[in-house]
Amino acid sequence: KNEINIGLLGFGVVGSGVAKILQNHQEDLRHKLGASVGIKKVLVKDLYKKRDTSLSSDVFTSDLQTILEDPSIDIIVEVMGGIGEAKDAIESSLRAGKGVVTANKDVMAEYGRELLELADVNNCDLLFEASVGGGIPLIRTLEDGLASDRISALMGIVNGTTNFILTKMKHEKMSYEDALMEATELGFAEADPSADVDGIDAARKMVILASLSFSTEVRLEDVFVRGLKEIRDGDLELAEQFGYTVKLAGSARKDEDGVEVAVEPVFFPNSHPLASVNNEFNAVYIYGDAVGETMFYGPGAGSMPTATSVTGDIVAACRNLLLDVNGKRPHVMQYERKVKNDRE
Ligand code: HSE
Repeated sequence: KNEINIGLLGFGVVGSGVAKILQNHQEDLRHKLGASVGIKKVLVKDLYKKRDTSLSSDVFTSDLQTILEDPSIDIIVEVMGGIGEAKDAIESSLRAGKGVVTANKDVMAEYGRELLELADVNNCDLLFEASVGGGIPLIRTLEDGLASDRISALMGIVNGTTNFILTKMKHEKMSYEDALMEATELGFAEADPSADVDGIDAARKMVILASLSFSTEVRLEDVFVRGLKEIRDGDLELAEQFGYTVKLAGSARKDEDGVEVAVEPVFFPNSHPLASVNNEFNAVYIYGDAVGETMFYGPGAGSMPTATSVTGDIVAACRNLLLDVNGKRPHVMQYERKVKNDRE
């Protein structure tokens, strides 16, 4: 096989970034893979919308079936977002025997286990690096780099929008509303930004990270979630006066009683490295029994960083196809569920 074809579902902030990387890095990718990889079809809702792209207009379609039934399409890349339609599309793709790359944290947090099992049954890859931490390779770190260690805890900033808002409010004295508007314009916020500001997006990412870290199934309802509304008037000034910075932080730990996961605003002393993670950047500490303390930092949202993670997964899926080892991944969540959420 010397040509791999992608079916791209969605052409928004992330999808258009994926198309750019595949186009601009075409030659490098061909050298790295020994095969060419290109976009054969793109699923969009509105065929007639003006798009700034070098892809030819006949690549665009509004019919998912034509993509799924095209035998020349090897890998489906789901970057449409949302839950219902995206989950159905991932399911149908796997059933059609096509590997899937997704950036969808909502779907992976809620249906990850079920979909990974479906991928296994159908001998297909299901890769989701871009679902957490934008451009930071966190999933691969947990699945590969730290695979031999016993992870005891995670802590960090996993939502770019709220970090952007808090940074602008602190350093530029911007209002909450203006900062949220700017985060939306820059393509960081979710379609419904209440998922960001209420801590749900961060909670979903913590569900994915905790499930992988502790090899157990953590669910959204297990997470103690508090969003930006918990921050009262004057809290930011008070923090500043005493040398602290407020961040929306996620944490997950495991002990003999089970797993505990939370998302909440936290006061960090200004000397703490997380206090200086600014704008849409994310940073996550991972503590392992053997490795000790590690920290991962990078852009947590935005078109090109997120598209980099998606494209990294495309490369991995292409390699697996070329080596004929696609779908040969061990189960990642094989332990008994043991979680606690007793905080009020
Ligand atoms: N809305 C998300 C964030 C996008 O701000 O972190 C990246 O997952």
